Amino acid sequence: MEALNVTALRADTPGVAHRVHLNNAGASLMPSPVLDAIRGHLDLEARIGGYEAAEEAAPAIANAYADVARLLNTTPDRVAMTEHATAAFVTALSSIRLSAGDVILTTRHDYVSNQIQYLSLADRLGVEIVRAPDAPEGGVDLLAMEELIHRRRPRLVAVTHIPTNSGLVQDVAAVGAMCRARDVWYLVDGCQSVGQMPIDVENIGCDFFSATARKFLRGPRGAGFLCVSDRVLDGGLEPLFPDMRGADWIDDDLYQPAPDARRFETWEFAWALVLGTGAAAAYANALGLEAVRDRARALASNLRARLPEVRGCRVLDRGAELGALVTASFEGHVPAELVAELRRRGINTSSQTRIDAVLDYDQKGVDGALRMSPHYFNDDSDLDALIGALGEIVGS
Ligand SMILES: Cc1ncc(COP(=O)(O)O)c(C=O)c1O
Repeated sequence: MEALNVTALRADTPGVAHRVHLNNAGASLMPSPVLDAIRGHLDLEARIGGYEAAEEAAPAIANAYADVARLLNTTPDRVAMTEHATAAFVTALSSIRLSAGDVILTTRHDYVSNQIQYLSLADRLGVEIVRAPDAPEGGVDLLAMEELIHRRRPRLVAVTHIPTNSGLVQDVAAVGAMCRARDVWYLVDGCQSVGQMPIDVENIGCDFFSATARKFLRGPRGAGFLCVSDRVLDGGLEPLFPDMRGADWIDDDLYQPAPDARRFETWEFAWALVLGTGAAAAYANALGLEAVRDRARALASNLRARLPEVRGCRVLDRGAELGALVTASFEGHVPAELVAELRRRGINTSSQTRIDAVLDYDQKGVDGALRMSPHYFNDDSDLDALIGALGEIVGS
């Protein structure tokens, strides 16, 4: 029996009338309640003024924080709204006082921008970046991770829950248990996992969880959030560049950080997008994230099973647990050209080149990948369309 009413969910999604959308790891299609929340607030701003609209929408804004908190199994005071996942990640990273010789322990699958930021910190501050090796089946080797936490005493452990470049799902809760046992700061990039599967920040044991609204959560572009632990707030962590929302200037030479996660926010907000983010979280909560995960994963594994029908296709996903992002290479074909050909046929996918994930793509011996990411509102006819089009372009 179908847990989700896919017909109703598709009726709620204007985009499915126009495209076969298999780019949910890029940006998903917003459902009507998200669009209504955004448009409603923009209309209010146009009618009564931006500052006045924000005041009038205060109860709805409070609900948006509560809905995001519920999505993550936390409380609203631990949620900071941000402009996107990287903004959330960077403000979290900046709150850890790193100095020369400190170790940041991460994995070979962490997001490209995060890796660049670690390297920038290594260059500027002299911190050392250590990447835990992979297990033979793919994904970080948990024993090696534990050994490195024990031996290298990292100041920070940072793990991307679901990478942008493969279907892997990392066991972030297992790493969290190690960090809690040794009292190490733990930052999880949940950009691809939020909205794709249940998230429980308590169970993960992370201090920071950064995410974006536009991907599997189906919120708007240009919005994201950061969730912080009580340890972060009680421990006095605050971003390197707080502004007048994150802190009060209380005396000539003194400021005081906000008591809650607001200390990680900045003053100016696209409140329409915050409301859209809240609507997306409420929508996902109402569907149930187990059902969402099960259907998205079933479609993805169906797709992985069918892709070998296409000539020269190699599915690249590896790991004990795989999610809804399917990556593949096609002998003799450049992924970006496949994306363009598919788009001409009304099918949305995306592509990457080597520099989006040098460690992973070099190890797999490919120059990049075609990324195909179904979500629960996709159906078998979408997969048929994709496989048929790839067969036409590449050969069967
Ligand atoms: C795993 C992961 N982390 C972070 C990001 C960055 O998100 P944003 O573009 O919202 O900053 C992405 C975007 O693709 C991602 O896939």
